[in-house]
Amino acid sequence: MDNPVAKLPIGVFDSGIGGISVLAEIIKILPYEEFVYFADTLHAPYGDKPEDLVRALSIKAAEFLSSIGIKCLVVACNTATGAAINEIRKMCAFPVVGMEPAVKPAVELALNGKILVMATPLTLKSKKFNDLIRHYKHRSEIVPLPCPGLVEIVEKGHIHGQEIEDYLSRIFSTVDKEDVSSVVLGCTHFVLIKEEIKKAAGKEIVVIDGNYGTAKQVRTILKNERLLNVIFRERSEISLKTNIRFFISGNGKEVTRRCRQLLQNEGIICESEFSHCG
Ligand code: DGL
Repeated sequence: MDNPVAKLPIGVFDSGIGGISVLAEIIKILPYEEFVYFADTLHAPYGDKPEDLVRALSIKAAEFLSSIGIKCLVVACNTATGAAINEIRKMCAFPVVGMEPAVKPAVELALNGKILVMATPLTLKSKKFNDLIRHYKHRSEIVPLPCPGLVEIVEKGHIHGQEIEDYLSRIFSTVDKEDVSSVVLGCTHFVLIKEEIKKAAGKEIVVIDGNYGTAKQVRTILKNERLLNVIFRERSEISLKTNIRFFISGNGKEVTRRCRQLLQNEGIICESEFSHCG
């Protein structure tokens, strides 16, 4: 017998458009699912705010998506995960998947050199991240690289061009690249500018993000919990009609347009509607 819960959408949230980089990976491996995406653009960026405030905002976002009716929540934001994942898990009756800078895959590559982690200042200060570094420090030298202000540039939709190039060349000028083997993108916004980061880092440095790993984790959990949406549709039909409802707390129309564009860049065309929400 069909489980009616399996027909519910997957909820995804971020402070803004960064979580779209995660959503795109999830859609690619779970094309039969429906989604609701909440971007808390009214309060973005999270990464330079006090942890208590980010925790409260993240809990509110989770409560909001939960009130719509979802079968699983993806916290597509490293900063919100670091600040609030335990509290969110406690309050949700469905599975909750968070983000974590992909330090483990970087360590497992066993390259010769330091691992640089680009993330928001709050992620790098979080207990979760510092526990992660402590766990792997006997295997690799892990160096945090805080990137204040970078989320704001990406959030404006400036994912190419001079402003990003200048920012990245300034931040990489503080690093001795000779010693670095890999860069971990510990913020979902930074995945949207991965090519620019690769250019700034240089050919020798491997750039790693955790989005595919997160998408696989979502699929595994839904499968184990028997929550996959099993309706069969032609693949060609699916790729034309990924169903996403966007909820945006600020500048909804423009942010939705950017989200759709970013998905389209990944070959995903979505049927969508958007609503403002506070
Ligand atoms: N995408 C969020 C992250 O992964 C950005 C946080 C922010 O708004 O500063 O950390």
